[in-house]
Amino acid sequence: MSALIQATDLSVSHAGSQMPVLRGVDFRIDPAEIVTVVGPNGSGKSTLVRALLGHVDLTSGRVRRMAGLRIGYVPQRVHIEKALPMTVRRFLSLPRRVGDAEAGAALARTGVPGLESRQITALSGGQFQRVLLARALLNDPQLLVLDEPTQGLDQPGIVAFYELIEDVRAETGAAVLMVSHDLLVVMRASDRVVCLNGHVCCEGTPQVVSAAPEYRALFGAGSPGALALYQHHHDHDHDHVADEGGHAHRHGPDCRHQH
Ligand SMILES: Nc1ncnc2c1ncn2[C@@H]1O[C@H](COP(=O)(O)OP(=O)(O)OP(=O)(O)O)[C@@H](O)[C@H]1O
Ligand SMILES: [Mg+2]
Repeated sequence: MSALIQATDLSVSHAGSQMPVLRGVDFRIDPAEIVTVVGPNGSGKSTLVRALLGHVDLTSGRVRRMAGLRIGYVPQRVHIEKALPMTVRRFLSLPRRVGDAEAGAALARTGVPGLESRQITALSGGQFQRVLLARALLNDPQLLVLDEPTQGLDQPGIVAFYELIEDVRAETGAAVLMVSHDLLVVMRASDRVVCLNGHVCCEGTPQVVSAAPEYRALFGAGSPGALALYQHHHDHDHDHVADEGGHAHRHGPDCRHQH
């Protein structure tokens, strides 16, 4: 199957910094796949997303996107000019004009029906996230790219959000690439989890990754163990396919996490 996006040996350095933010990252996402990228703050998750979308210059490596790929993107941060009045309805028509029925349906779908006439800057954080998702869905995307999309959502909102994402995938066949810190829910909702720390530290199905020894070492049975994936230590070098207890997971070059 041909990938929607495929990156090979990707490295990115930001202007003014000595160390590359990303080094030697291989990444692909296939049609209808839900892939979640996890990793500590500053580990390069947003940079990876932006590189995949072609928004940042690569130091080396290559990114291939399927020709004509329709992407719905919810960035981690959206700057809205406070001085510029803009209703939700108008925001939904940027950059592509959509009809009232379509706009209303998208808002209903994301759990904020009837917000059309509200000012964007007056929305609560959770309402704004839902409006962003509604706008991303209006593009009839083949790939949804969501960078920490549940920020500002309350707990029931987070659960409902991932259910909605799975529904969208089931109905439209869209693939989903997410960055998230909601690890317990991510574990349930993702086909594949990629742990990033400047490089791909480990990746696999949620079952495989959550069975990784670093995951278990930090959180025993019955605890909210998915957090361990996020908090595991990165303190030794190895480059191999580990297979402990039948749970193989792949390590990238110079991976530094602990077994
Ligand atoms: N435009 C930029 N110019 C310079 N440095 C940048 C830029 N964007 C990001 N960085 C740096 O690159 C590193 C990775 O940033 P990035 O935003 O990709 O991390 P992240 O994993 O998304 O973090 P978070 O979980 O906090 O969102 C950080 O050290 C950050 O300071
Ligand atoms: Mg980020």
